[in-house]
Amino acid sequence: MSDPQSDPAPSDAGPQPDPELFDKIVNLSKRRGFVFPSAEIYGGFRSTYDYGPLGVLLLRNVKDAWWRSMVQLRHDVVGLDAAILGPPAIWEASGHLANFTDPLVDCRSCKSRWRLDKLDDPEVCPNCGARGQFTEPRAFNLMFKTHAGPVEGAGHEVYLRPETAQGMFVNFANVVNTSRKRPPFGIAQIGKSFRNEITPGNFVFRTREFEQMEMEFFVPPDQADQWYEYWCGERYRWYLDHGMPEQLLRLRAHEADELSHYSSGTSDVEFLFPWGWDELEGIANRGNYDLTQHQTHSGEKLEYFDQASGERYLPHVIEPAAGATRTAMAFLIAAYDETEVKGERRTVLRLHHRIAPYKVAILPLSKKPELIGPCQEVLAAVQARFMCDYDETQSIGKRYARQDEIGTPYCVTFDFDSIEDRAVTVRERDSMAQERVSIDRLVDYLAERLA
Ligand code: GAP
Repeated sequence: MSDPQSDPAPSDAGPQPDPELFDKIVNLSKRRGFVFPSAEIYGGFRSTYDYGPLGVLLLRNVKDAWWRSMVQLRHDVVGLDAAILGPPAIWEASGHLANFTDPLVDCRSCKSRWRLDKLDDPEVCPNCGARGQFTEPRAFNLMFKTHAGPVEGAGHEVYLRPETAQGMFVNFANVVNTSRKRPPFGIAQIGKSFRNEITPGNFVFRTREFEQMEMEFFVPPDQADQWYEYWCGERYRWYLDHGMPEQLLRLRAHEADELSHYSSGTSDVEFLFPWGWDELEGIANRGNYDLTQHQTHSGEKLEYFDQASGERYLPHVIEPAAGATRTAMAFLIAAYDETEVKGERRTVLRLHHRIAPYKVAILPLSKKPELIGPCQEVLAAVQARFMCDYDETQSIGKRYARQDEIGTPYCVTFDFDSIEDRAVTVRERDSMAQERVSIDRLVDYLAERLA
């Protein structure tokens, strides 16, 4: 599966991209219910995906882990959930109407369509090899436009947001006036964004509808550089803390010619995808560009008045902007492992327990009614605390294998002895070690390990 936008494979020593892994992840996602091609019974809808029973849990866990670190565990960041539909005025001010474009070229020979800036050789079509057959580049605006109300046409256009960030800028004054926060402080948001990408691809890596996790951190101008460094470190560490191996991650500072005109510094957290290093998140030092633009276009004062110093200023902004759907895919790739146990292939998703869809699987050894009743009592106690799967089909070995393949950290087996000794067998995914644990202590036992 090739994507014209992917980076070339790194040639240096160290971990290498693994193209076969890509197909394994796509197959596992479909087979086990992480991600389905959208509208499949109608032949599919290109590069659009639905998150199945496991995918919705995985994605929710990624977003919850981000929210926990970025909002819950901090006193200086508050949340927001702004509208997806916005009037043209927002996008005029932000610069998206004029500048959010990609240079589009068509190959006259095979009719394929490309982003000129992502071609290895701007003269050669990667699809058919034709040289010099591209049309003149056209600036293609990536925003989806629709209309509000029953009347179409001028004055009724609205746009689906191409990033969540602008919701934070246009609500800056509202948040300052209601939350008693003062710079340095941040506004965080998770939500869907929409971009009419010319060449979506690589599964959920680049889609037209996706989820972002963004935070705008407003700081006094003279503190911008130090906060930029701080957020680069924090965000890189977040991925490590959630189980991404260090050798699959890097923080790459943009070259001067890659920077947006308003940015004085941007670094990407990059992940070694099966096709090479690519972006998970960008951390940008945006200066006061956004607040200046919205202040000018709206006519509303957006300066912050610091009562202590008597100073009035437009805060500068440090923005860590991550993709939730893209990050969920990276977690799957990083966690995928195949080993051999007693001559049999074992597939394990070694997901961090916060990211794993199910935390615990409750498994009665057999379907006999004398086991099912008390086992479901154990299920009721554990699922009140943790997301659980319950499975009574097939042999216990096959059920362990199924749970390994979807990354469940703990399996709890209720067997015939459990009726007498009021204990269950707990099996840990990575070590496969088994331990007998009293049912009375089970929830606490799991809580200590799933903290
Ligand atoms: N507010 C800044 C901003 O939106 P961006 O680099 O365009 O910056 C941030 O987007 C993140 O959103 C990216 O690092 C990526 O993870 C995710 N993202 C962007 N476009 C995407 C797409 N078409 N499909 C999936 N994720 C995307």
